[in-house]
This record gives sequence, structure tokens and C-alpha cells, in this order.
Amino acid sequence: MSVTAHSPAAAPVAPPGFFLETVQSVHHWTDRLFSFTCTRDPSFRFGAGQFAMIGLVVNGKPLVRAYSMVSPPWEEHLEFLSIKVQDGPLTSRLQHIVPGDKVLIGRKPTGTLLPENLLPGGTVYFFATGTGIAPFMSLIRDPETYDRFDRIVLVHTVRQVSELAYRNLIAEHLPRHELLGELAAEKLTYYPSVTRESFEVQQRITGLIESGKLAADLGLPPLSPERDRAMLCGSEAMNSDVRALLEARGFTEGSNNAPGSYVVEKAFVTK
Ligand code: A2P
Repeated sequence: MSVTAHSPAAAPVAPPGFFLETVQSVHHWTDRLFSFTCTRDPSFRFGAGQFAMIGLVVNGKPLVRAYSMVSPPWEEHLEFLSIKVQDGPLTSRLQHIVPGDKVLIGRKPTGTLLPENLLPGGTVYFFATGTGIAPFMSLIRDPETYDRFDRIVLVHTVRQVSELAYRNLIAEHLPRHELLGELAAEKLTYYPSVTRESFEVQQRITGLIESGKLAADLGLPPLSPERDRAMLCGSEAMNSDVRALLEARGFTEGSNNAPGSYVVEKAFVTK
């Protein structure tokens, strides 16, 4: 009798520079927006606000884009938020992942949206459009953010109400979280706005700053680099328009070696 050696299917191997992680859950917010969670290698360390290269193996090669971590550094799993573009090289594929699938996570997180790149104290404004909310979801769940600033204002502007991702988590769950609830209830203000549908605030971030509506609604003085800090994460156009408004008010950009009164990062994936 001959015995045929039967080798089990080879376990997939991570390409150099990446962890190979397993998708745990996928949430489709709209036909343009989804998020997913995956396992996290214990050696993968990052700061709230950072991003990493994320993607899939396609035709034997890594196909990756920069994605900010949505999940806070203390969480066991990782979470990411993505748009879906039907002909986008990565997101046309990534949008179809299901639990159990493998994803690539770059081993070297990086980025400028870190509290230490801002001068400490005062009110920090997190200005986000679209998927630009991702890094701020990590930051508002990191206790260090609350240590560094007296108040945190998260402004998220999207086209449609259904694109206000994590709205429920921020407004309902976070204030009741057993460890962060008290800090968030005391220091965090969530200010959503929607531009292409009827909503309680129906204006772009730029308009909200220029008109003074944001400050008036919050009962805060107009933006000033003496007492305020800002982080921006949105499209190139939004970043550059808000940057101009801040610089006109005397804000200076901070970086990894010189803290300033604002920092900026684009919401990366557009395809
Ligand atoms: P609008 O609907 O008026 O274009 P997108 O999905 O295109 O990235 O847009 C997300 C949000 O960012 C939308 O509410 C959009 O408003 C807003 N937005 C787009 N460009 C700018 C800009 N230059 N400054 C401020 N907000 C912007």
C-alpha cells in the first residue's frame, strides 16, 4: 500500500514589514462607508492619533494605504474606518472583507496628530470631515488626551446624517464608559454637522469658525492660539481652508520636533 504524503494547506505568511491579522467584525455604515475590527499583534504599539499602512495581499503582493487607528491604544483589537470606492484599487476589495479574512497591518505606525505635538493646556478642537474622524476616535478614548487639555471639542462634518460614524458611541456610550465616562462627560463636547441634508447644524467647519457660530453655540470665546489648540483631519481642501483660517488667527503648526498650536493630517484613503 502506498501512502501519499498529504500536506495541509500552508498557513499564509505575512510579507516583510507587516503583521497578518484576522478580521473580527465588519460594519457597513452606508454604501460609501464601512469599518472593521481585527486582531492585534501584542507587539504592535501605537499612539492615539497615529496611522499605519493597512491592506490586503493582491496577486501575491501587499496592496496597502494609510489608515488611522480608530481604536485606542489600550484596546486589544484594532479598528479602522474606510470609504468604499467601486473602482478604488484597495477599497473596492477591502469593502468585501468578512470575519475570518486576513488583513495586513504595517508594523510601523506614524503620524503628527499627537497631543505632544501641541502646546499643552487650553481647549483642543478636533476638526474632522468624513473619515477624518478616525484618529480622533482613538484620541477621545485615550486618558492622556484628557490629562493634557482642559476641554476637548470634536467637530465632525459630513454630507449626510448617516455618515456621522460613531455618533452613538460618542454621544451615548462614552459618557457612560466605566473608565473614561467621567472624563468624557466633564471635558468632551461632540459637535456634529451635516452639509447636504437637514440637521440641527447644517454648515461646513469653515463657515462655523468664520461666522462665530461654533464658539457661540459652545459658549466659548473665538478661536485664539493663546488658549486654544487644534487638530485637523479631512480632505486636502478642508485641511487647507481650515489651516488658512487658523493661521490668520495666529496659530502655528506643530510637528514631531517642535510643538505648536495646531497640527494637521489628511484623511488618507480616497480610492
Ligand atoms: P459640502 O457638502 O459642502 O461639500 P467629502 O465627503 O467630500 O470629503 O466631504 C465631507 C464634508 O466636508 C462635507 O460636509 C463637505 O461639505 C465638507 N467639505 C468639503 N470641502 C470642504 C472645505 N474646503 N472646507 C470645509 N469643509 C469642506
